Amino acid sequence: MMKLNAVAAGALVVALLISVQPAAADGDGRGYDKKGVEYTVRKEVEKAIKCDSGVGAALVRLVFHDCWVNGCDGSVLLDKTPYSINNGGTEKAAVNNIGLAGFDVIDVIKAKLGAAVSCADIVVLAGRDAAAILSRGRITYAVETGRKDGVVSSAAAADATLPTSTMEFQQLKDNFARKGFTQGELVILSGAHSIGVSHLSSFHDRLDSSTATPIDGRYAAALAKDVDAQKAAQMTPDPTEKNNIRDMTSKFRKASGYDATGVDTAAVGALDNSYYHANLQNMVLFKSDWVLRTDDDAATDLVEYRDNATKWDNDFADAMAKLSKLPAEGSHFEIRKNCRTTNQNYYYY
Ligand code: HEM
Ligand SMILES: *[C@@H]1O[C@H](CO)[C@@H](O)[C@H](O)[C@H]1NC(C)=O
Repeated sequence: MMKLNAVAAGALVVALLISVQPAAADGDGRGYDKKGVEYTVRKEVEKAIKCDSGVGAALVRLVFHDCWVNGCDGSVLLDKTPYSINNGGTEKAAVNNIGLAGFDVIDVIKAKLGAAVSCADIVVLAGRDAAAILSRGRITYAVETGRKDGVVSSAAAADATLPTSTMEFQQLKDNFARKGFTQGELVILSGAHSIGVSHLSSFHDRLDSSTATPIDGRYAAALAKDVDAQKAAQMTPDPTEKNNIRDMTSKFRKASGYDATGVDTAAVGALDNSYYHANLQNMVLFKSDWVLRTDDDAATDLVEYRDNATKWDNDFADAMAKLSKLPAEGSHFEIRKNCRTTNQNYYYY
């Protein structure tokens, strides 16, 4: 009995020492045990992806859509704000945010972590972990914590700020430049479309001969057929398709004439450079993906990333780390109690 108590007391002292040190060392000033936070997020993201493999893609996209609009401030998570009542809703209501998901996972993590961790930090950490898991551990990067949550979220701002799938190359390039991102980073980050799904409304221009930008004819035909089958079976006007032809059935891939050389077709749902294989075969959903081929330098990059998987993993990790650092804009911040609502019903500026 005595011995056990002594061991327990010793363990407690060690635990206290460990928990005090990181806060002093990383200087984020909030005194939480960062190791514990990161561990909790990782475990919850693992569980969520195990239940629903599609949620990993949603979490990666969430980082982009949060950080691009007002910086990384958790604004994409808000269902309402004191200002959104009469102005068309929060970012979630934006046309460009169609299909956005993963909010439930953020809520579960927030419930575990409580007031010490901002929703903005959780978005960045969860997206980082999803990228690591979906890439089978090949995409890893460190992120700082200490972000705070904003109190402003507007659908109009999101639609004015996020790129759209029908943009021309120069528009995409300008859109990225406004956030301090290079053309090279545009090409790198677009590789995120190796995972996840898209609604028909985001790529229907590609299936209509009057608006279509170059797309492989057999791929387009296979897509149109599948879209029609889904519309009939599910009575939905806006079905979804996998972003990556790698993730389609072998029958679909064969009908499209997809050349899988250099692609691990067994790695369904993996975040990897297979997007570049698909793009260079004109087998991608969005015009915004295809237009990368129309610029000489971007096209050279596409080939490089197709041919060097490791290079893409590394460069994508760096670009995600940079994305996760976009500073919050605005004048009032807090650590939200609930990621879906601001802490107060009004704020004085
Ligand atoms: C370059 C400009 C980009 C455009 C125009 C664009 C556009 C889109 C569109 C239209 C969708 C489909 C939404 C739907 O219909 O449901 C989508 C999905 C997705 N995007 Fe992008 N995107 C861009 C860049 C990025 C970046 C930088 C990332 C991440 C770093 C990203 C990650 C994703 C992911 C993971 C999905 C699938 C989401 C899911 O399955 O839940 N995209 N994107
Ligand atoms: C692929 O990229 C990595 C990382 O940039 C580099 O070290 C390697 O030499 C490249 N491999 C080839 C075959 O070019």
